[in-house]
Amino acid sequence: MRGVEQIPWAYDAICGALEWSGLGRWRRWLAGGARGRTLDLGCGTGRNLPLLPAGVRAVGVDPCAQTLARARRRSPGALLVRARAEALPFRDGAFDTVVSGFVLCSVSDPAASLGEVRRVLAPGGALRLLEHVRSARPAWARLQDWIQPAWTAVSGGCHPNRETGRAVERAGFSIEGEGRRASESVLRFQARPPEGG
Ligand SMILES: C[S@@+](CC[C@H](N)C(=O)[O-])C[C@H]1O[C@@H](n2cnc3c(N)ncnc32)[C@H](O)[C@@H]1O
Repeated sequence: MRGVEQIPWAYDAICGALEWSGLGRWRRWLAGGARGRTLDLGCGTGRNLPLLPAGVRAVGVDPCAQTLARARRRSPGALLVRARAEALPFRDGAFDTVVSGFVLCSVSDPAASLGEVRRVLAPGGALRLLEHVRSARPAWARLQDWIQPAWTAVSGGCHPNRETGRAVERAGFSIEGEGRRASESVLRFQARPPEGG
């Protein structure tokens, strides 16, 4: 499926405008809390990569070759791998942090992807997530359900109405703090896998 997410200049133009109008501080929060060996899941055009703290060893994965090419220009020092979240080509416990920005709305199988995130996180590691989700307002949520098929086609895979916070908990992660909403339909939190894997 090809849509905005697979057209790097279009994705960057939209994201740049959204970040300028407020989303930028959530992206800085997402990347700024990464520690150690860090996987940027679904890194897209690489907008998180330059925001990672100094000393972080970054690996980005994405299934789209065009977006990876732009990510490579944006962050020449990062290791970039063409792969899907549902089948990560890394050993168990390979990462201290996984950052995921607006990706679990787009993967084909959120449960399998979260299982892989859990597998590749080292003990004590953290999943940091920024995601737009099904709205807390019922009328808005119904509208998201209604527009989902067209939205998914135009965006190239994104689902506006996924309950990703619940999916993260179902996968066994504990969401730290209150798992704050950045807005009614944007969630951001850090979560930890259960001790002992
Ligand atoms: C909305 S973009 C987000 C890009 C980037 N994380 C950001 O914050 O700007 C969604 C990204 O998820 C990627 N994606 C879609 N399906 C995926 C999958 N199964 N595994 C990993 N990434 C996927 C897309 O190629 C796209 O780059």
